Amino acid sequence: MTDTTVDPAGLLAIAVTVAREAADTARSMRAEGVSGVTTKSTDTDVVTAADRAVERQVVAALGALRPGDTVLGEEYGGTDGDARVRWVVDPIDGTVNYLYGLPQYAVSLAAEVDGVAVAAVVRNAATGDEWTATLGGGAFRGKKRLAASAQTDLAQALVATGFGYDAKRRAHQAEVLTRLITRVRDIRRFGAASLDLCLAAEGGVDAYFEKGLNPWDHAAGGLIAAEAGLVVGGLDGRPAGLDMLVAAPPAIFGPLADLLSEFDAAGGP
Ligand code: IPD
Repeated sequence: MTDTTVDPAGLLAIAVTVAREAADTARSMRAEGVSGVTTKSTDTDVVTAADRAVERQVVAALGALRPGDTVLGEEYGGTDGDARVRWVVDPIDGTVNYLYGLPQYAVSLAAEVDGVAVAAVVRNAATGDEWTATLGGGAFRGKKRLAASAQTDLAQALVATGFGYDAKRRAHQAEVLTRLITRVRDIRRFGAASLDLCLAAEGGVDAYFEKGLNPWDHAAGGLIAAEAGLVVGGLDGRPAGLDMLVAAPPAIFGPLADLLSEFDAAGGP
């Protein structure tokens, strides 16, 4: 018998409701001024009172709507349990943009069933733009079904990326870029991985890659990108993970991944 409690469409409806309320909180707290700023892994890796408040709100809302499911969040880690459904949330992806008032920060929320993302929403809290996907059901911005770039030539590709917070890692990432930048059309760095993946999903950039992403950075955006037709994976045949995530149209995934591998983009600190 079908288990309706893990139906992707039903999980997406809950995700969208919860993410919209969370985005409202993030936006209204930003309007009141950023507070409670502290640092995490390095002096430039910030967390604000809003990051914490939004995650607490998401965990509480999911607890009310889906008691028994577990949640993994950026600020408070994981909740205990062995439920089939795990929610993965970045309460404010793009915290540095949030700090500076740049309108490129998002609530990112995915539902995984047995470890596989099946429903996803990314909502730009500053603008209200919203992207969704269900596994096998396509990716959408609002009601518009998304199709990734049809680019076939890496030399013509606009490629987004991001940097970690650790200085040594950033130096390595910058070295990779000095080599890559002559092999592609150009590079973009917007500051929120989930939104980068959504941009790739709608062809706003041709491809995206980043080393060091955590599950909350890419769980939702990764599904949205894949459902829009991008190949999402790691280097040398590995799945996307902490060492590397590449999202690119089928024709340029291989050439881009090969170059990144040659430049040791998944290596270094
Ligand atoms: C960060 C952003 C950024 C990416 C970093 C992430 P946060 O997430 O997504 O674009 O380059 O790797 O850590 O800290 O703003 O939630």
